[in-house]
Amino acid sequence: MDIVEISEKRYTAKRYDKNKSVSREDLEKLLTVLRNSPSSVNSQPWHFVVVNNATSQNKILPAILDFNHARITDSTYTIIFCIKTSLDNDYLTHILDTEIQDGRFTKPEIIQSMDKDRRYFIGLNSITNEKLHSWESCQLYLALGQFMFAAASIGIDSTPIEGFDAQKMDELLGLKEKGLKSIVVASIGYHADNDSNAKRPKSRLPKEEIFTFV
Ligand SMILES: Cc1cc2nc3c(=O)[nH]c(=O)nc-3n(C[C@H](O)[C@H](O)[C@H](O)COP(=O)(O)O)c2cc1C
Repeated sequence: MDIVEISEKRYTAKRYDKNKSVSREDLEKLLTVLRNSPSSVNSQPWHFVVVNNATSQNKILPAILDFNHARITDSTYTIIFCIKTSLDNDYLTHILDTEIQDGRFTKPEIIQSMDKDRRYFIGLNSITNEKLHSWESCQLYLALGQFMFAAASIGIDSTPIEGFDAQKMDELLGLKEKGLKSIVVASIGYHADNDSNAKRPKSRLPKEEIFTFV
């Protein structure tokens, strides 16, 4: 499918068909897209909780605002996008070790400078915990965008969800104890015939208003 076509086809599903499920194989593909998502200085400041709605929706439903319940109950999977509450020394060493293992560095001298630059940049964005968390969240939203676009490209419908109680979600999934914090949620599945949003035309501000060419 052409990229413009995918962008037009993707829309926020409001109602899902419970009888149609995303295959495990397609789920794996979408998780790979999440894993390959770019992040500033390759910080990968995330963790994704994958909820199988057929078996485990009750674990998260109390944290989902009422108007969003149907986006969870009838979809196949719900992904909870989480940031790490801290990017500590052990974690940054772990990232560096992984990059070494993955063969990212051709010359040993690059290793130290990469590590130094990453720590410097993360330091700039960690003046306060709030600043760090907001910077990490930006990386998560990039992953969310890629995820939804990729899903649409293989005919899977999705719903981005901010309408949930993050504190409650963290409690229900024991995220705080794991050094995580939920930021945004997305469900995937196949839309129901009565999903009124499926037929609603897109509404976007005109090109002239949102692009400037210099
Ligand atoms: C970060 C984010 C959070 C959103 N949260 C919700 C939500 O909680 N519930 C919902 O039904 N739609 C939610 N939406 C969907 C938006 O309303 C929708 O993307 C927008 O109206 C544009 O429509 P489209 O996605 O169909 O093109 C969210 C979208 C984004 C990007």
